[in-house]
Amino acid sequence: MPDYQTSPRTHTAVVGLQWGDEGKGKIVDLLTSRNDVIVRYNGGANAGHTVVVGTERYAVHLIPSGILNADKMCVIGNGVVVDPEKLLEEIDSLRVRGIEVGDNLRVSDRAHVVMPYHKVHDAALETVLAARAEAGGRNLSIGTTRRGIGPAYADKIHRSTAVRMGDLLDEGRLLERLSVICSLRTAELAALGVDAPPLDPAALTAKYGAFGRRLASHIEDTTYLLHDCHRAGRSILFEGANACLLDIDHGTYPYVTSSNCSALGIPAGTGIPGALIGRVYGIMKAYSTRVGEGPFPTELHDETGHRIRERGHEYGTTTGRPRRCGWLDLVAVRYSAMICGVTSLACMLLDVLSGLPELRLCTKYRLPDGSTTDRFIPDAARLAGVEPIYETLPGWSEEIVDATERTRLPENARRYLDRIETITGVPIEIISVGPERTQTLVTT
Ligand code: GDP
Ligand code: IMO
Ligand code: MG
Repeated sequence: MPDYQTSPRTHTAVVGLQWGDEGKGKIVDLLTSRNDVIVRYNGGANAGHTVVVGTERYAVHLIPSGILNADKMCVIGNGVVVDPEKLLEEIDSLRVRGIEVGDNLRVSDRAHVVMPYHKVHDAALETVLAARAEAGGRNLSIGTTRRGIGPAYADKIHRSTAVRMGDLLDEGRLLERLSVICSLRTAELAALGVDAPPLDPAALTAKYGAFGRRLASHIEDTTYLLHDCHRAGRSILFEGANACLLDIDHGTYPYVTSSNCSALGIPAGTGIPGALIGRVYGIMKAYSTRVGEGPFPTELHDETGHRIRERGHEYGTTTGRPRRCGWLDLVAVRYSAMICGVTSLACMLLDVLSGLPELRLCTKYRLPDGSTTDRFIPDAARLAGVEPIYETLPGWSEEIVDATERTRLPENARRYLDRIETITGVPIEIISVGPERTQTLVTT
């Protein structure tokens, strides 16, 4: 019997349960010491994962957050869309800060490439969709990061117009593909109102071929690599980018990103069967945030929302945009935990809630017909019509950034956490009370 059928479920996943920026980078960094290989399986440079080590703050976009630990292997799996220019910038900026990036970084030859015309297309389409509002229509833009993510994944599905990392290593093949792609894309971009010279396949081939040469030593078949690691008994940590409610199939469509960013994306995005994953950490903020457009039932437009944004420094790691803030939506978190098969929760940024006189937890939605439901609605138009139903809990006034044990947190903070566990049915294993590694309470 092949060994993958008899292996224990040894590997671990970290996934965001809300609309992103839950603090996944911090938890991946924390769990890196217990694992050997850290793998990104989805998304691209739309992600921005922050790791704070003492006075140093690192923000990674494409490279797994485990890179700060030189003895770990970091893998960018086939499910990721890679912007080689951004990847090289990220490698250089880490090296400048003394972080080793060499053999410890591997990139799938089957990961798709984000080309410059993807980024132009992404921005141009967003502009066209937003401009409808000026003409009296509804703004239909998604509020993307403009990193070319959607157009790159679209080309992956189109197949004939896609470029993969392996193609960068063969300039003859790259030129052949780009010759067709450039003429098609030039026409499409013009139709979107982009005023630019025609795309030049030879120039693009030269530029991206050069990126390929610089990245060649990192590019390989990462599926066999990961299975070899598995067979050798090395433990793998999967690092989700974006988050479950942004999942292309299970999120608040169409206000989502273009990959399966829930835990369901792991097998397809790496080649590792889901049955080998034993632990799934669901990362959630103690409140909710969202960047970009789309429904957000518990959003706060008042002073409390403003206070959360300022105390939590809720401004995007990738784009700097202010994040929309609101109460914790447990209908959404429970749904994401179900989709991702979450085995324990990490409750992040609890410190941000200190000083609020009372806190609200959304446990149900009221539908337009007056009925109620405790089920999430992963459809933007229908979700926009719900009204949150809250439970109100007393807040706590004490700062908790120096807390070291759950049992020593203020009583009302403990009640808040207990209620989250009861409503979601999932234990909270990690509580985070500040951005630093030391500001972490591990409860098991
Ligand atoms: P990710 O995309 O899920 O990795 O999250 P981001 O890095 O985009 O955003 C999370 C932000 O919250 C970062 O600036 C972190 O340094 C910060 N952070 C993480 N955990 C905590 C916490 O418990 N308290 C506070 N105040 N900040 C935190
Ligand atoms: P991390 O990994 C927060 C959001 C964008 C936009 C939508 C589609 O840091 O949690 P895209 O550029 O992917 O086509 O944008 O998805 N989005 C994120 N929001 N954190 C992220 O990643 C995100 N990745 C995408 O704001 O609303
Ligand atoms: Mg982020």
